[in-house]
Amino acid sequence: MATGTLNIGVIGAGRIGKVHAESIATRVAGARLGGVADINLAAAQSLASQFSAPRVSGDYRDLLADKSIDAVAICSATDTHSRIICEAAAAGKHIFCEKPIDFDLGRITQALEAVDKAGVKLQLGFNRRFDAGFAKARELVASGKVGAVHVVRITSRDPASPPLEYVRVSGGMFLDMTIHDFDMVRFLSGSEAEEIYTMGAILVDPEIGRAGDVDTCVVTMRLANGALATIDNSRKAVYGYDQRVEVFGSAGMVAVSNRTPDTHVHFAANGVHSATPLYFFLERYADAYVAEMQEFVRCVQAGATPPVTGRDGLVPVIMGLAATRSLKEGRPVRLDEIR
Ligand SMILES: NC(=O)c1ccc[n+]([C@@H]2O[C@H](COP(=O)([O-])OP(=O)(O)OC[C@H]3O[C@@H](n4cnc5c(N)ncnc54)[C@H](O)[C@@H]3O)[C@@H](O)[C@H]2O)c1
Repeated sequence: MATGTLNIGVIGAGRIGKVHAESIATRVAGARLGGVADINLAAAQSLASQFSAPRVSGDYRDLLADKSIDAVAICSATDTHSRIICEAAAAGKHIFCEKPIDFDLGRITQALEAVDKAGVKLQLGFNRRFDAGFAKARELVASGKVGAVHVVRITSRDPASPPLEYVRVSGGMFLDMTIHDFDMVRFLSGSEAEEIYTMGAILVDPEIGRAGDVDTCVVTMRLANGALATIDNSRKAVYGYDQRVEVFGSAGMVAVSNRTPDTHVHFAANGVHSATPLYFFLERYADAYVAEMQEFVRCVQAGATPPVTGRDGLVPVIMGLAATRSLKEGRPVRLDEIR
């Protein structure tokens, strides 16, 4: 498909499927919502009817068999992504896929091979790259305005833990949550991690610990360009979604702070007050979700390589597996131990 409207089917009508379906139907130029599929048929029907999608199904294979559908947005549970990528590629559909591709490197490789073989486009859902502040930070680093990068610092804290059922199937903190920050380290620094050391704790919810995960962590890493990076994560920040980055280098520093619903500052006898950060990812990254889908559509229509590639989907999973092993074994883990 070189020109014309891109007809996109959304697979998975949950939290993120709703965001992408709305963008495709109402905000992304050159795109149309061609259908919605979810094993929960009622969820698919409700989303399809909200945006007048012509096709709705309880089986995503109905979207793959529909010749009028050019592309799919895979927004279903993580353990379905690699299989659906393989089948969608074989059906000749271009693919936007939510992170992560899979937890298993063999299955990721298979999925990427299927995409290559079919010659379809694949873009991964690392939406933070499309946030205007983070994109500006990357631009300043890439243009040399920060000099040689010495330290990347990322703070990423959620306002509330996800449901335990989600914790159990989402791959745990490193592959579900920190994976965005691993991607940001690569994106902001322009370099790859070589070695990762992780400390984790259960300070928020003992149930998360009983489900085999941590809810608080600090990850440090050494990058191939010699820079150091740190990520700190918590599943619960009482003041809202805390999303900040800093890149410090030989010629300066670029920092991106939290976004708030408004910019007022209230000076009073008991202190100076301002708004708390936007509540969570749906609010904080609303613009970024639209921008990433717009870029996917533009790339498919132009025959260009999407900016977040299959390899960009693979490497943060390797980083997540290294972080998991580091936590388990209490030592720094080199990425080439995982490969
Ligand atoms: N990029 C981001 O900011 C971001 C944010 C949230 C979630 N995600 C990712 O998106 C994916 C979905 O997360 P969510 O929070 O929307 O979860 P969710 O549980 O709200 O929704 C998942 C939906 O997928 C459906 N589903 C499961 N198996 C299916 C199948 N075989 N075929 C069709 N539908 C199926 C479920 O019924 C459910 O409606 C996860 O991989 C998650 O990591 C990314």
